[in-house]
Amino acid sequence: MISQLALSVVEKVSSTSDLARLAIDDNAASGTVIQAHIQTKGRGRNNRVWHSPKGNLYLSVIITPSQPQQDWPGVSLVVSLALAKTLGAYIEPSRISLKWPNDVLVLDQKIAGILLEVYHQAIIIGIGVNLTKTPKVEAQNWPATALSDHSQEPVDSDDFRDQFLSQLKDDLNLWDKEALTPFIKPWTDMAAFLDENIALTLNQDQMIYGRFRGIHANGTMQLETDSDGMLSISAGDVTRARPAKRKAEQAKH
Ligand code: BTN
Repeated sequence: MISQLALSVVEKVSSTSDLARLAIDDNAASGTVIQAHIQTKGRGRNNRVWHSPKGNLYLSVIITPSQPQQDWPGVSLVVSLALAKTLGAYIEPSRISLKWPNDVLVLDQKIAGILLEVYHQAIIIGIGVNLTKTPKVEAQNWPATALSDHSQEPVDSDDFRDQFLSQLKDDLNLWDKEALTPFIKPWTDMAAFLDENIALTLNQDQMIYGRFRGIHANGTMQLETDSDGMLSISAGDVTRARPAKRKAEQAKH
C-alpha cells in the first residue's frame, strides 16, 4: 500500500490535514506525509482544538488502503502502537500505555493524539506528539505531558519523526495485508485500564459503565456491563469510573 513515504515540511499551516486534503485533490500517492512546525487551526477528536505551538510534532499521512472501508477505524490502533514503540526508545516502556481507541499515555498523561479523517478513497491520519510543549489541561479532555519531561537525553524532533515514520510504514503495510490480527496482542499488552471499571461517553450526554475486557479482532472495545452483558463498542471517550463506594459516599453529602 505504501511503497515509499514522501515527506513535505512546511513552517506554518492551518492544519496539516487541510493540506493533505489539497494533496489528495491533486492525486497524491499513498504514503504522502505533510508535516508543519506550527498549526494555527489544529484539530482534535470531537471538535476539540489541538494547540499546536512550535516544538511538537504535527503531521498527516495519506493512505489508500486495500482493506474494506468498514475496517478503516482499526488504523487508530496500528498508529497508536507504532507511536508507543517509537516512544519506547526514549522512555521506559512500562510507563507507556494505550487508551482506546487512539491515545498514547505516559504515566497516565496524554502525550500523543491521532485523528483519522476519510476523504475520497483515502484516510488522512493526523498525528500530534507533544515532544517539548505540554498543552494546558483544560484544552484537552485528559491531563497532558511531553516527551522532554521524561527523556534523559534531548529529543531531536527530526530523528523521532524519522523513526516513527519508518515503524508506521511497516505496520500500515502489515495491517493492509493481514488486518488487525497481528496487532491485537501487542496492543492489549499495553492497554490502559484493562479489566478496570471505566466510564465511556458515547456522545455528548450518553454515558455507560462497565469493565474494559480488551479489544475484538475488528478493533471494537469489549465492555462488560452489569445490565447488558458484553457490549462491542466502536467509538467513544474513555475515563476511569469512580469507585462505587466513593460515588455512594458522595451521593450522601
Ligand atoms: C486528538 O484529539 O487526540 C487527536 C489530535 C490530532 C492532532 C493532529 S496534529 C496533525 C493533524 N492536524 C490536525 O489538525 N490534527 C492532527
